[in-house]
Amino acid sequence: MQTKVLNANKNAAKAAALLREGELVAIPTETVYGLAANALDSEAVAKIFRAKNRPADNPLIVHVQALDALGKYARNVTDELLSKLDGFMPGALTVILPKRDNIPNIVSGGLDTVALRIPAHPVALEILRESALPLAAPSANRSGSPSPTTAAHVLQDLNGKIAAIVDGGECTVGVESTVLSLCGAVPEILRPGAVTAEELEAVFGEIAMSKAVFSALKEGAIAASPGTKYRHYAPKSPLVLVTGNSERFAQYCNARRCAALCFDEDVALLDVPYFSYGGAEDFAAQARLLFAALRRLDAIAPEIAAHAPKAQGLGLAVYNRLLRAAEFRVV
Ligand code: TXA
Ligand code: MG
Repeated sequence: MQTKVLNANKNAAKAAALLREGELVAIPTETVYGLAANALDSEAVAKIFRAKNRPADNPLIVHVQALDALGKYARNVTDELLSKLDGFMPGALTVILPKRDNIPNIVSGGLDTVALRIPAHPVALEILRESALPLAAPSANRSGSPSPTTAAHVLQDLNGKIAAIVDGGECTVGVESTVLSLCGAVPEILRPGAVTAEELEAVFGEIAMSKAVFSALKEGAIAASPGTKYRHYAPKSPLVLVTGNSERFAQYCNARRCAALCFDEDVALLDVPYFSYGGAEDFAAQARLLFAALRRLDAIAPEIAAHAPKAQGLGLAVYNRLLRAAEFRVV
């Protein structure tokens, strides 16, 4: 199959037509690129799992165009809940709710819940509107590799495996959405993202943080969010997370001759190949550059040391992705 690269300015209708025909189309969102298919068509959704080589028990996020669609695919969507979600959606928040029967089991990975998100990206919203479909869309990478934040990243992983990519330029957020389960007594963050725990607490009151955010799942344990049990975001080169100040980080990299995923403040001290992913306090830059940096360093280095970000605010999302990429190796 030849993968068409479509310009985002005038191709929403073409992308929508392909999706309606049951094809896969990679689309830009504000977080990362998504690999979209008609969420109501099990055969189309099956193509996503094949193209990404994704385990069948890892469920997909269903993207919809507006808040009024939530109740079409999920139960327990009250007016009170909608008013709480109003400030977050469209945006980098995915909510987990009990699913309705119209969501195929292949989408939910056999769970009785569904993940729903409204992307805050004009091109994604235009394609949702044109297609008039709910779109199942995981990140548009090969399963396990860093998520794509440009159309070129998508091509690297999926060229020839999908019908088209809509090129919307670089994603502005750079890490995937916050996944919030609304199925228990207390809302629980299963995956941290650009919408922070503090922002959610201001609207929902108490918020729980899943243990899976900071630690590996024990062998055989059941994951609340199945995606958390797989090796993730990982470059091919082994990666280690290094805590502490610039001096400690640079010493580690220089002594071991490994490539550095560093902060701007570290650069002057390094005499190894490096890629800076922003200032130590600039969480937005770190999030935006993280996955591109991992792809870049992977191509040049047999071993990578990453300077650990502060695990707070958006930094927590960056820390969580790096922790998984490092398979929990922290020094
Ligand atoms: O920003 C994002 O969320 C991007 C863009 C494309 O929207 N999508 C994304 O999808 O990151 P994916 O498939 O790479 O990650 C979805 C995560 C996985 O960890 C999955 O296990 C979890 O959400 N998830 C999906 N449905 C779930 C459900 N019903 N219950 C619990 N976790 C679920
Ligand atoms: Mg993913």
